[in-house]
Amino acid sequence: MGRVHVIDHPLIQHKLTYIRDKNTGTKEFRELVDEVATLMAFEITRDMPLKEIEVDTPVCKAKSKILAGKKIGIVPILRAGIGMVDGILKLIPAAKVGHVGLYRDPETLMPVEYYLKLPSDVEERFFIVVDPMLATGGTAVEAIRSLKKRGAKQIKLMTLIAAPEGVSAIEKAHPDVDIYVAGLDERLNEKGYIIPGLGDAGDRLFGTK
Ligand code: URA
Repeated sequence: MGRVHVIDHPLIQHKLTYIRDKNTGTKEFRELVDEVATLMAFEITRDMPLKEIEVDTPVCKAKSKILAGKKIGIVPILRAGIGMVDGILKLIPAAKVGHVGLYRDPETLMPVEYYLKLPSDVEERFFIVVDPMLATGGTAVEAIRSLKKRGAKQIKLMTLIAAPEGVSAIEKAHPDVDIYVAGLDERLNEKGYIIPGLGDAGDRLFGTK
């Protein structure tokens, strides 16, 4: 069963406050998102499997643990998800990076996949799907569906801010996917923005309007 993990570490909460602030400019916004992604990666990897090896310390032999070598794939949802990739790679530098792009069909209002490129060995990889905002959840639900269609079996979703509507949508469509959020906000407004949120994550990351 998927669960929501609100990572309420003081450093994350502090940085998230400045990410929300409309007076935070593009450069600082980008840096803060990058830093929070690194801190969240620390938490999302908490259950990564370990194996024991033997090392020689300067004084004796010791049994000690290293990562068991699980292959990891990071998949940002275009475009705002890109802003979180480098922060995760700082902790997991050997991870491979896929990309998924979706647009909303103007007639059906349903998300449609327009781009997908994944690393190899999809079935054996543990995937972290990243998008700073989980609003209605429509895009993330479809992105995860795209990965599963190609054989992905282990997926976690990492997002900075989620609305309850988005969390419910993921829990309903993908009950096996754990969701990691820095902030769980109140609701969506009539335009689909998260309240209080941070505005448009893509525009703030890339300095567009
Ligand atoms: N996407 C954003 O960038 N911001 C929101 O508030 C909702 C969706």
